[in-house]
Amino acid sequence: MDFKIKIPFLTLFLFLLFSSIFPLTFSAANKPFNTDKLHRLASSAVFRVQGNVYPLGYYTVSFSIGNPPKLYDLDIDSGSDLTWVQCDAPCKGCTKPNHQLYKPSNNLVQCVDQLCAGVHLTSDHHCDTPDDQCDYEVEYADHGSSLGVLVRDYVPLQFTNGSMISPKIAFGCGYDQKFSGHTSPPSTTGVLGLGNGKTSILSQLHSLGLIRNVVGHCLSGRGGGFLFFGDDLIPSSGIVWTPMLPSSSEKHYILGPAELLFNGKSTTVKGLELIFDSGSSYTYFNSKAYRAILDLVINDIKGKQLTRATEDPSLPICWKGSKSFKSVSDVKNYFKPLALRFKKVKNLQMLIPPEGYLIVTKHGNVCLGILDGTEVGLGNLNIIGDISLQDKMVIYDNERQQIGWISSNCDRIPNIDRDFEGDAFQQPHAANLGIFDDRCPADSEL
Ligand SMILES: *[C@@H]1O[C@H](CO)[C@@H](O)[C@H](O)[C@H]1NC(C)=O
Repeated sequence: MDFKIKIPFLTLFLFLLFSSIFPLTFSAANKPFNTDKLHRLASSAVFRVQGNVYPLGYYTVSFSIGNPPKLYDLDIDSGSDLTWVQCDAPCKGCTKPNHQLYKPSNNLVQCVDQLCAGVHLTSDHHCDTPDDQCDYEVEYADHGSSLGVLVRDYVPLQFTNGSMISPKIAFGCGYDQKFSGHTSPPSTTGVLGLGNGKTSILSQLHSLGLIRNVVGHCLSGRGGGFLFFGDDLIPSSGIVWTPMLPSSSEKHYILGPAELLFNGKSTTVKGLELIFDSGSSYTYFNSKAYRAILDLVINDIKGKQLTRATEDPSLPICWKGSKSFKSVSDVKNYFKPLALRFKKVKNLQMLIPPEGYLIVTKHGNVCLGILDGTEVGLGNLNIIGDISLQDKMVIYDNERQQIGWISSNCDRIPNIDRDFEGDAFQQPHAANLGIFDDRCPADSEL
């Protein structure tokens, strides 16, 4: 069977290969920032998110770049650092019409620039001449890649305090995109990397003193949601935090070790290290864990009037009922909740309700949105993808080296949407964040 599994921009093993080396003469691109001032900053740049897990398989933001600004739809990816857009240059694998491509205009980042050198993984960064351009290559775990050149341009951002600020930000202009194997070519114009590496927009905004080094997303199960840089939208209570694994701080957001609970009970699936990757549509476990989970689910639905739907090409494991299903709520009662229990913090859990691991396809079947990562080349890695991150605000706090989450209604941006609904626009303020309090109980309860 030919399973067309979309894993857009599943981003591990990220390699940023920058051309050339030269003495590290840093240009003074970034203003020094004052830590005291940062602690008092409570403003965030906020973006509305479009997309869904099924049928699209990705979440995107409309990102403005340039002066005058143009909009680019970028896949949001907490599994990589570099943001890039398809480049209006002799371009291989560019899928967009010309007017949606980014046209560089004398704004190439130089090879000697701090960003070009600073991101380099190895020490062999050199520049033949100081005004060489800064080439980059990003490779994604699904064997896709983007190759291009770094440019710097205005990125107008709307902040929650009402200010519109247009800092100059470096990003990739990608002219050679490759997609192989099971990867479908992107229908987006690029990737918004949410990682914490030096090239990421997050790090750049932070070094300009505009935000705290915090990024969060809230992906709605009904599609859409929002994304923010900075810590202004974080509720003052109810979030559960767990420390990032130290090795993860540079490239990926990794938590662990965790144990899988099935219907609240311990399982043999233990010691998991989990990458939180909004660039992956589904959740992946290593083969051993995957088979254990599949066994648990299959044993549990025995005698529940579900039969395997082997003819549904959407995902590897699907079931049909006596009538065709319209949404996961039709099948919710057949399936048990999963949870991840993190060892480091006592009783800390992330609940994965049936909506967090099942989809209902256009054929009316229910399919398992947990996949075998080893089979698609991920080896022993486990990835928590969009499907399991839905309907939660997930916050990556790089300053405190921790990741937090809270069940949330991601359909509305706190403060902002509420304020627009009222009769006057008020300056959004942290005091309004109480709207999260009456939602589902926090995942940490127990
Ligand atoms: C709003 O927040 C931004 C980013 O932190 C900051 O640069 C700006 O000065 C703030 N504007 C006001 C009016 O406080």
